Amino acid sequence: MFDLTNKVIVITGGTGLLGPKHAEAVAEFGAIPVLWDLDAKKAEEMAARIAKEYGVDAVGAAVDITQEDQIEQAKEGLLQRFGKIDGLINNAANNPKVSAEGQVQGSTRLEQLGLEQWNQDMAVGITGAFLCVKHLGPTISQNPEGGSIINIASDLGLIAPDQRLYRKEGVPEEEQPVKPVTYSVVKTGLIGLTRYVATYWAEKRVRCNAICPGGVYAGQDENFVQKVTKLIPLGRMARQDEYKGLIVFLASEASSYMNGAVLSIDGGRSVW
Ligand SMILES: NC(=O)c1ccc[n+]([C@@H]2O[C@H](COP(=O)([O-])OP(=O)(O)OC[C@H]3O[C@@H](n4cnc5c(N)ncnc54)[C@H](O)[C@@H]3O)[C@@H](O)[C@H]2O)c1
Repeated sequence: MFDLTNKVIVITGGTGLLGPKHAEAVAEFGAIPVLWDLDAKKAEEMAARIAKEYGVDAVGAAVDITQEDQIEQAKEGLLQRFGKIDGLINNAANNPKVSAEGQVQGSTRLEQLGLEQWNQDMAVGITGAFLCVKHLGPTISQNPEGGSIINIASDLGLIAPDQRLYRKEGVPEEEQPVKPVTYSVVKTGLIGLTRYVATYWAEKRVRCNAICPGGVYAGQDENFVQKVTKLIPLGRMARQDEYKGLIVFLASEASSYMNGAVLSIDGGRSVW
């Protein structure tokens, strides 16, 4: 049911924190993960590691998903090499993280958010996902058995960021760090893309689902971790490998009747 032998699955943002985990997850069940990210060397090295560790073929390539010609070219390369593409995981995004020092990288208050940052965040998170679907969707739909598209949204596609989590003592109100508005808009937008795509190639057996993960623990500032943990019924942030099961489920025939779903996987944060 979970078998993914020789399924060619493209993962955007493939060399970040979670991209390699998605790739490992599908590789463990026999798929050929294709890691697209900005840095060619990193992507190639990551693919080589996964190929060796899981005994599968794997591809790593520099593909900037905001550039349509790069997506088209990379797709042609995959078709020449494998003759098909079976899945797409839209995972790349500008993801403003809390550092060990408690800074929110890329934090910009709404009043100060420039059009340039807005456009850049949309370009990666929304336009990039659209372009990947535009170019890979038709190819996936040509498989007799269709395929699976997974959009990585966020718990912040379901609920608003609780800006109290990011507050810093002694910082004036108008300079308090925040999760930028673009994150909420991108993640909610991906849910719209999911519903649209779920119906678009449904007759050709292309399923599309969104997952809404909660925050992963990655050495963030202790004060932040304590505060966010209180908002999560399970009482902890996610481990880096805790989304693997859902990825395999959605990529495989185990979820053959699941289409257009928006699945929260957040320790219960969005129900509290
Ligand atoms: N880490 C979390 O706690 C968490 C929680 C919920 C949702 N998410 C979502 O999961 C996804 C992955 O998160 P992450 O923590 O691995 O983020 P990350 O920042 O570590 O990785 C994102 C990757 O996307 C790549 N990228 C950026 N612009 C690109 C472009 N134009 N073309 C191709 N690649 C590009 C980056 O180089 C980076 O490797 C994101 O969509 C994020 O919003 C993450």
